[in-house]
Amino acid sequence: MRHFDYQNGEMFAEDVPLSRIAAEVGTPVYVYSTATFTRHYNVFADSFADTKSLIAYSVKANSNIAVLATLAQLGAGADVVSVGELKRALMAGIPADRIVFSGVGKTRAEMRAALEVGIRVFNVESLAELRVLNEVAADTGKTAPVAFRVNPDVTAGGHAKISTGKKENKFGIAWSQAESAYAEAAALPGIEIVGVDVHIGSQISDLAPFEAAIVKVAGLIKKLRAAGHTISSFDIGGGLGIPYGNNAAVPPPPSEYAALVKRLTADLNVEMIFEPGRMIAGNSGVLLSEVLYVKRGEDRDFLIIDAAMNDLLRPALYDAYHEIEAVQQPDLDKMETYDVVGPICESGDTFTKGREMPALESGDLIVLHSAGAYGAAQASQYNTRPLVPEVLVNGSDYSVIRARPTVEDILKTESLPNWLTKDENVTDI
Ligand code: LLP
Repeated sequence: MRHFDYQNGEMFAEDVPLSRIAAEVGTPVYVYSTATFTRHYNVFADSFADTKSLIAYSVKANSNIAVLATLAQLGAGADVVSVGELKRALMAGIPADRIVFSGVGKTRAEMRAALEVGIRVFNVESLAELRVLNEVAADTGKTAPVAFRVNPDVTAGGHAKISTGKKENKFGIAWSQAESAYAEAAALPGIEIVGVDVHIGSQISDLAPFEAAIVKVAGLIKKLRAAGHTISSFDIGGGLGIPYGNNAAVPPPPSEYAALVKRLTADLNVEMIFEPGRMIAGNSGVLLSEVLYVKRGEDRDFLIIDAAMNDLLRPALYDAYHEIEAVQQPDLDKMETYDVVGPICESGDTFTKGREMPALESGDLIVLHSAGAYGAAQASQYNTRPLVPEVLVNGSDYSVIRARPTVEDILKTESLPNWLTKDENVTDI
């Protein structure tokens, strides 16, 4: 069931016509579907209903507080990587003891904040970080629950920039150092070892790398227990891919992923922790944009739209494919081939090259699909383009869950140093 689909000749998000959102909120705009978030979360959760587990939604995929609150109501925990994401998760009503803190570079201030609210576990990525966490815990009079993120040296992920489980990547404790890291942690008074963590990459489209990583880490868990450590949780991160609508390999459904995980961990007697991001958010959102111009070039035609790489960075950064469809159901007899580009002053501001699609004109609305994860969350204000607003649809209702800032909002955060305000040619801002 697609919640972004045509009804009476035009595309809707659930029961709201996208043309209405474009008219009332303007474009470009991210539009999310509550029903899709709910379905994705429930599909994942139902596959693990018989397993002692925590689903810690990876906030970085889509961190809007309304999205987090939607997932919180379904029972989600959160995987956060900054104090900002921690605050978002708490504001959305996710209990601290369902929050895990990941990331290679946690600061002392972030550790303190997380200790004070009492998060579930710190996923620690280096001995240097462990030692600082021990000090911060001593300062705050708390004990820090810790799992080491280990690097299993497994190849996985849809693109080199999102593969994280190889030993040349910056992530995790090197496999050969894992056991000694646990031994050191056990001797520190501010640290309580609770589990093991692994995350091998993102947009993973087959189960083999998950299997390789889980088998390796399961072996490690047994060794750690034999050495006297208490390992009560096993976090296998996120990474399950989603279909983007192109011809690339279609990832396995959560049910198959769940069957594999259960088979490989059945005898471990641990609580499983999952950190899915893209799988829940990716196909829950579209980027709605308007065609500004059709530019007929010498040997190619450009569709210049009002969204750009600052709004949706994935094509420029990872050569990512996003399906593009017209909001008004098109005439499939009139096909054209376009490069779809944004207004930014870089050739990399290209969503797709040489894509065959129904003919479009200036003023037509289009959607870029699968933009719910790593879309708004990775947006910037490059070219002084205000961040794209976000809208959440729920049945026939919708709400603006992040407003479009004005240019004045952007400019007012900047100020002139006093040696420039003396120059009468410079306008004070
Ligand atoms: N846990 C950790 C520790 C992570 O680093 C990530 C993603 C996740 C969980 C969630 O992974 P997911 O289930 O979403 O694959 N911006 C890139 C993806 C970067 C992923 C970073 N880490 C993209 O747009 O493809």
